[in-house]
Formats: sequence, structure tokens, C-alpha cells
Amino acid sequence: MGKPIFERMKELKEIRPISFHMPGHKGRNWLINWGEYILDMDITEIPGMDNLQDPVGVIKRSQELAAKAFGARETIYSVNGTTGGIYIALGGISSPGDKILIQRNSHKSVYNAAILNRLDIEYVYPNYNKDHHLYTGIDPDTIESKLKESPDIKVVVLTYPNYYGICSNIEKIGEIVHKYGKLLMIDEAHGSHFIFSDHLPTPALKAGADITVQSIHKTLPSFTQTSMVHIGSERVDVERIKAMSALYQTTSPSYLFMTSLELARAYMEGEGKERLDKVIQELKVLEKSLQEIPRVKVFTGDKDDKTIHSKDITKILFRIEGLTGVNTNKILMEDYNIYLEMADRHHALALTSVMNDREDFEALYKAIEDIASREYDYVDPMDIDIPMPKIERPIYEAFYSNKRAVDLKDSIGKISASFITPYPPGIPLICPGEKISRELVEYISFLKDKGIEIIGFMGYNKEKIQVID
Ligand SMILES: Cc1ncc(COP(=O)(O)O)c(C=O)c1O
Repeated sequence: MGKPIFERMKELKEIRPISFHMPGHKGRNWLINWGEYILDMDITEIPGMDNLQDPVGVIKRSQELAAKAFGARETIYSVNGTTGGIYIALGGISSPGDKILIQRNSHKSVYNAAILNRLDIEYVYPNYNKDHHLYTGIDPDTIESKLKESPDIKVVVLTYPNYYGICSNIEKIGEIVHKYGKLLMIDEAHGSHFIFSDHLPTPALKAGADITVQSIHKTLPSFTQTSMVHIGSERVDVERIKAMSALYQTTSPSYLFMTSLELARAYMEGEGKERLDKVIQELKVLEKSLQEIPRVKVFTGDKDDKTIHSKDITKILFRIEGLTGVNTNKILMEDYNIYLEMADRHHALALTSVMNDREDFEALYKAIEDIASREYDYVDPMDIDIPMPKIERPIYEAFYSNKRAVDLKDSIGKISASFITPYPPGIPLICPGEKISRELVEYISFLKDKGIEIIGFMGYNKEKIQVID
């Protein structure tokens, strides 16, 4: 009679942490009293409830209202998060065998979409800002060089904003991409709130993206797993996107999820919009106060880094000198009941939303002030660099090929069939189809020795890597 998930959920309910992580509703029942509706809303396609696979009724109308609110030509709900949305969007604007240009620190759903849709990948690398130990933006000039070098690229896929709220110059990139007759797709998982305030970076569609995918659940008050695919330009064939939606989405979509998407959008068009601006003003005060605490550094941008176009203030990216981000995160959780979104060796990230209130911000400020006055540990100044491996085989071919597991030390010169990814930052060091170099093996061993968590290995002691047979 074990119920491990439920038991842990009950514990969390008791603890009631202050949430600076996803989902964007922050556990606050402010839109409707969900407890009252939850079972009644968990239905299937009974008469009058329409069908997400081919909407003609209430779902169609709801999606049309979303399109209007988000400035899209058409919007499609995804009940499998932005992961599902990326499969749909990329599948709908490319054909098997096409080449796409993606940033090397893309979320794994972009790589997976390339496998599923049998796309050839070429990489563009983000800037690594050594002063701040952060991946920042993409230089528009490197996009232009890539498009000149490889005229067969059909689609450019970029992340905007990145996990830390850093935004590249998408307007400029969009102009370049369109000058070369290509499509610009944006993974805007972390940017669905942008359209609702003039104090935030420009939303991707307004900046010229042809299609974007947003996790409404990350930064707006909707349930986990709820996202939207927004089609912006006439260059995108809407019917192909709809066909992909029917291909990748369940035939039993949750009406709770779809209702939650609708309620979040409706809230943000009214009361939520005003509230968001109020929250942003409070965040400006908080950011300034945090900067005044000795040892505390809040990342607000870097004027010398030309790849940073803007920074989303709702993501508080900070560090306490002399303390790792990972430890800061741990202390906040254990001693102050404050749960952050993530931390790495240097930074900690507090993800705020329209549903956070002043009390949350005061609690965070006091906790950081307190920690900075007493806690120290050793911060290893090392950085994790993205390697630049050579692609030997298309990612989909390597993924579906016959594989065998070999010891890491014996894998040099072979072609990887796995993703090997250190967390954080969650960017693959090696992907299927890439050649494993001696430098890479040495680097992975070095990271392992440093105790960095690396996923993707096999074997009892996680010492083996899958290679193409
Ligand atoms: C940049 C980025 N893209 C896509 C995704 C996938 O989004 P979802 O969790 O909604 O499937 C994530 C999730 O963290 C992400 O960070």
C-alpha cells in the first residue's frame, strides 16, 4: 500500500515552502478555487467540450483568445509542456533531412525534436562570460556567418530568454535570418510573461520570430505541463503545425490543463497585468537592496558583453561571494524554508512570478542578508566550458543505430550514441553522432573527480558510455 509520491506531497504541504521556483502559480489559489472544481473539470471529450486534435468549438475559441493576447496569428495548446510544443513546432516547419542551426546549449527537447523529425544539426555557440561565469547571449554576427557558410540551413532555433533571464538581440537575429530566407523558431519557455509588461524584454513574436513555444506554467499562473505554440508569421504553414499537434499530443488531453491555460491568460489580461507591474516595481527595490548587502552580487547585465541585449528582472540571479550557489541554495532551503529554482557553482536563481508577494521578497532579502553575514565555504573558481565536438553522423542516425557500452577511457575516437550531460548547467558535453576526443574524455574525468553530477553513463558504477557499434 505504498504511496511515496502522495506521502511526500503531504509533507511538502505541511512545510509550505516559500516558492521561488516553478510553477508560476506558486501554489496560490488566486484565480479560482481549484479545490471546488478539480474533479468536475477532469473530463473527456463529452458533447460540447470540443477536441484538441481538431478543435472547432470551445477549445478553438479559447486558442483564438490566447492568440490575440500573445500577439500570434494562431495559437495551439500543448498539454505536454514546451517539450511537446517544440516537437510540434520544429516538426511543422521542417522536413526530414533538413538542416537546422541550433545553439549548443539548447534544452534537450530541441535535440530530441531533431531525432524525432530526423533533422541534421549545426551548432552556434553562446558567449561564455568568464567575468560572471555565465553563458550569456548569441552574437548576431555569428548567425550571419553560419548562414553564409551553410546555405542549406532551413531553420534557426534559439532560446530566448535563457534559463538565467538573459536575452540575445532577437530583433537583429530575426532580420538576418529573414534576409537569408530562413525561419526563426524561438524556445521561449521562460518568457511567456514578457507580453504583459512594458518593463520586460520584447516578446519573441514582436521581435520577429516566426514561431515560438512558451511554458505558461513556468512564469505565469497555470498548471505544470501547460504550454502554448504561437505562430507569428505567414512563413509558417499553420495546417502543418496542426497536423504535428495531432501527431504528438495525447488523444485524451486534460481539460484541467486547458482550463488552467485559459484562466492564466484571462487573468493576465486584467488584474494580473496590473499586478505584474507592481511586482516588477517591488523587484527593482529588492534588487537594489540586495546589491547593498556586503558580499552579495546580483547579475543585472554586463555592458561590456555585447551578446546581452536585455535581462528579465523577474529572475533574480545572485551570488554570495565566498559561498557556492549550490550551498546558498541548500542553506536557504534548510534554514529558511525558501526553495529556489536552481543553483550552480557560482550562482543561485530565484524565479519570481506575478504570484509572489512582498512578504516573499522580504523573507528572501532577510535570509540572504543573514547568510551573507555569516556563512563561508571554498568556491572552486573552475568553469564548465562547452566543448566543440565534431559531428560525424546525424543525431537521429546515431540514436537509432546499434550501440554498445564501453569504458569511458576506451571510447576515444568512437562516435557517441548517448548524451553525456553535467548538471548544472544541463548542457550536453557530447551528443549522439559526435566524435569522442581525448580532450573530452580527460575533461569528463576531471569533472567527475570534482564531484560534478553527470548523467548519461551506463553500467554498475556509471563508468560506461554508449557508442555506435
Ligand atoms: C529552455 C527550455 N526549453 C524547454 C524546456 C521544456 O519545457 P517544459 O518543461 O515545459 O516541457 C525547458 C524546461 O526547463 C527549458 O528550460
